[in-house]
Amino acid sequence: MTHHEVEKYRKAIRVLHWIHSGAFVLLFLTGLVLFIPALGFLAEDSWTRLIHRIGAAIFVIAPIIYIILDPKAVGRGLKQAFTWGSEDLGWLLAAPRYYFLGDEKSMPPQGAMNTGQKMWWFMVLVFGIIFVLTGAIMWFAKEAAPSAVLQWMVFIHDVSFIVSGAMFFLHIYLAVFHPLINEAWGAMTGGKISVDYAKAHHGKWYEEITKSKEEKA
Ligand code: HEM
Repeated sequence: MTHHEVEKYRKAIRVLHWIHSGAFVLLFLTGLVLFIPALGFLAEDSWTRLIHRIGAAIFVIAPIIYIILDPKAVGRGLKQAFTWGSEDLGWLLAAPRYYFLGDEKSMPPQGAMNTGQKMWWFMVLVFGIIFVLTGAIMWFAKEAAPSAVLQWMVFIHDVSFIVSGAMFFLHIYLAVFHPLINEAWGAMTGGKISVDYAKAHHGKWYEEITKSKEEKA
């Protein structure tokens, strides 16, 4: 790492991100096949159902391994995502001009996660839990549960699929294609961002990490 760069994501969180998002894409595509009747021919012999279940196992096991390996990092992540302050209100007010017009003037300095990133984190958590619970009932209680319950599970699973799928495309657009956000891909692949990018996009966080380094020195 040169002194013009700072570490944004540690290796363990990057590995989890790619395994978990890979499982999500697998679940999304095989879910799509189950969801759209016209694609039913792809589900012949039920191999999509099998892949959906393999995807589900990875989707559940990967974060559990991460939690076991580094519970403190999970605690820190949760704290970051659930700590909201005045800069979040500022983000919400400045976001339309920032993201649509590229006007950076009124955007207040953000922490390690900006408000939009925190909202995505929150959604991943909530929809992740909903998918696992409703999916597990469809998987393991297909015979035991009353059919009305199963129908509700399919309905909730489908609504989560539509909402989280749409938000997933928004996440990809912002992280990969938005003209102002040009180091997010590098951050999640190589782990580092430039000091200039850190100052411009995560000013509050950059100040915190440089201050704590100075205190230690
Ligand atoms: C751990 C998480 C998950 C589990 C345990 C799970 C489990 C299941 C099961 C058992 C079914 C019924 C399939 C069948 O008919 O055999 C199903 C259907 C489906 N899943 Fe999942 N799933 C999970 C996550 C996801 C995710 C992340 C998505 C999409 C982003 C998704 C989208 C769908 C869709 C669209 C269907 C079709 C429902 C319908 O028939 O309308 N699932 N899932």
